[in-house]
Amino acid sequence: MELLRIRGKVEISGDVFISGSKNAALPQFAAALLTDQETILENVPDLSDIRFMGEILTQLGAEVTKPAFNTWKIRPANIQPNPPYELVRKMRASICLLGPLVARLKRAKVPMPGGCVIGHRPIDLHLLALKEMGADISLNQGIVEIDGSRLKAANLFIGGRHGSTVTGTANAIMASVLTLGTTVLDGAACEPEIVDLCEMLKKMGAQISGAGSHLIKIKGVEKLKGCTHRVIPDRIEAATYIMAAAITRGKITVNGINPTHLGAFSKVMKDSGILLDEVNIKKDALFVHTRPDGLSPFEIITLPYPGFPTDLQAQACALACTIPGLSILTERVYPSRFMHIPELLRMGAEVSLEGANAIVRGGKPMNGAPVMASDLRASAALILAGLIAEGETWVHRIYHLDRGYELFDQKLRNLGAEVERVPETALPPSFRSPID
Ligand code: EPU
Repeated sequence: MELLRIRGKVEISGDVFISGSKNAALPQFAAALLTDQETILENVPDLSDIRFMGEILTQLGAEVTKPAFNTWKIRPANIQPNPPYELVRKMRASICLLGPLVARLKRAKVPMPGGCVIGHRPIDLHLLALKEMGADISLNQGIVEIDGSRLKAANLFIGGRHGSTVTGTANAIMASVLTLGTTVLDGAACEPEIVDLCEMLKKMGAQISGAGSHLIKIKGVEKLKGCTHRVIPDRIEAATYIMAAAITRGKITVNGINPTHLGAFSKVMKDSGILLDEVNIKKDALFVHTRPDGLSPFEIITLPYPGFPTDLQAQACALACTIPGLSILTERVYPSRFMHIPELLRMGAEVSLEGANAIVRGGKPMNGAPVMASDLRASAALILAGLIAEGETWVHRIYHLDRGYELFDQKLRNLGAEVERVPETALPPSFRSPID
């Protein structure tokens, strides 16, 4: 297995170009199943999660090709309702297949997604929405079986204990677009990825209003057609590079983004002293630099959009470790998403965990160490910490990183960081025992 070796204390500088959004593209692959015609998705990031999704669609019977590095063509003329467990278990986002399969085939047999290291991730709200639309749902040997032959439009409240659900909202929308009558989703997720899904569905002929608000109305149509759609930029990737610049106190330009998707995050960064200057009329790039008199500690509470994204909490935690003073990070979406903390402690950080609050006493010297990535965003956090640590940091299990960041190490190298993929055999013997 490969590791990532980072030599710290290098200030990054230059330009980085942001890829398409993973979490927008994944449900869009599923949405392509809503028609028997060809859909072309552009600006799709080259990631292992995307390749899994392409493989699942192929196994369902769709013709899936990749005519260019970031472009996929999907023609699902004849499809089956049962994605294989072997692929579905590798990726939670495969739950997004439920809505399109039920809408198009009136039935689905989708394995229940497995456990997840970032915390409990039930699918009760996805199923509730389908049930309220008249679907018959049973669970047999770990497979969710849905009979959608009596699907009808409905008025649904789709919020849960932790607020709205992103992929649950995507599923409910996709189930409704081919269901005649008007379905009203209250408590819907407002994430830009949901808005982008609705933009794509509208190009396919769907009638949707209210996307981006908590109240979405869908007027079902008989049939949808294929379309060409360009995936929005990845706001989480963009914010990760902004924090990479901040952590090394470097100066970089983050290009090809939509700054309006970064509202709550930008506010916290600016208050802390991380300056984000618009650099062009198109407003699709930000010049990132830091206040010369030092950064201030910050408090964040993760919440559904437009709140501070949970997908940036781990990286913000790494950043807070480098800012003298007390920062507090509260998780309201996944209260146990703190697997990065024991690894940051190995590097010399001072962080204590009280319930869903991480209390960071920042400014302690960070030292390189072998660390283990537990999930996608934790791996980014450890790499960011490695950028500022003294000496070498070795990040294990970087397959998590490859699920969600296109060419992360290459993009960092282009910014001057000393980051390299190395085989496990390159690990110094003294670094082997605690992890292996
Ligand atoms: N929830 C329920 N019941 C449900 C569904 C969700 O209680 O049926 C709860 C969850 O346990 C959580 C909250 O609702 O506490 C929000 O979960 P949500 O359903 O919104 O998460 P998701 O749709 O499964 C997407 C992203 C995640 C991101 C979350 C939150 C995709 C493919 N995944 O997951 O992305 O963390 O929204 O913003 O869009 C990542 O990219 O690293 C990642 C984990």
